[in-house]
Amino acid sequence: MKEGWIRISDIEKYYGRKGNLTKAIDRVSFEVERGEFMAIMGPSGSGKTTLLNLISTIDSTSAGHIWFKNQDITVMKNKDLAEFRKKNLGFVFQNYNLLDTLTIEENILIALIMNETKKREAIKRTVSLEKMLGIYNVRNKYPYEVSGGQKQRCACARAMANNPSLILADEPTGALDSHSSQMLMETLTQMNDELNATILMVTHDAFSASYTKRILFLKDGKIFHQLYRGNKDRRVFLNEIYNVLSMSEVGDKNVR
Ligand SMILES: Nc1ncnc2c1ncn2[C@@H]1O[C@H](COP(=O)(O)OP(=O)(O)OP(=O)(O)O)[C@@H](O)[C@H]1O
Ligand SMILES: [Mg+2]
Repeated sequence: MKEGWIRISDIEKYYGRKGNLTKAIDRVSFEVERGEFMAIMGPSGSGKTTLLNLISTIDSTSAGHIWFKNQDITVMKNKDLAEFRKKNLGFVFQNYNLLDTLTIEENILIALIMNETKKREAIKRTVSLEKMLGIYNVRNKYPYEVSGGQKQRCACARAMANNPSLILADEPTGALDSHSSQMLMETLTQMNDELNATILMVTHDAFSASYTKRILFLKDGKIFHQLYRGNKDRRVFLNEIYNVLSMSEVGDKNVR
């Protein structure tokens, strides 16, 4: 049997106490191979963020196991978790999470400096990411001086800075207009194609999801469907996504 690079095995997550339990994740299992570009879709409250937070070790599982390159991260001690995240994970959030008192460039650099990269090396890497992601011309501006799309591309550069094994993105296009969303999805596609980044993205937006190669659909904390893009054109894939969403009557059906 081929073993996945990341193996999620029968995980469960409950919130609350006896008598008032919410089953946010209900026996979810799947595997992620290196270099995959995946989306997790589902209606509000279906458990998307919870699932991402369990994989990123921000939240702890109630049951089940997650193996990350053969290391069981659900049994890891707290003091090792911060190190694990720093070494292996990159994050992109809906609200960018940039530091307002630092420039676009410094926001990327700080991720490298905090990981003890030498200054010259850090600057070289930062400039190369800025050029690749189209934010080189705004590198000396502050977050409040640039567009939402540019902020999010800066957040992607920061997430990629330390060559993480896995990038986790929760609704990265949630605050962007359709043009910026498209540019961001092209950026993530480029990071996946050219840098072989493994990306796991939560979205309720079919258009954003159509850029990925595989989609898990969650409902009531369970996986109820899965789609692979294969060699299909993105528009064909988008139609398939709409079909699943209408079949399940969930998700965002706004057509762009
Ligand atoms: N910290 C918490 N305490 C209690 N219940 C929680 C907590 N976080 C999430 N839940 C519950 O778990 C379920 C799944 O929530 P989750 O945030 O994962 O949904 P989601 O799919 O990300 O939704 P959205 O699309 O609105 O972001 C919901 O019923 C939610 O109310
Ligand atoms: Mg969420």
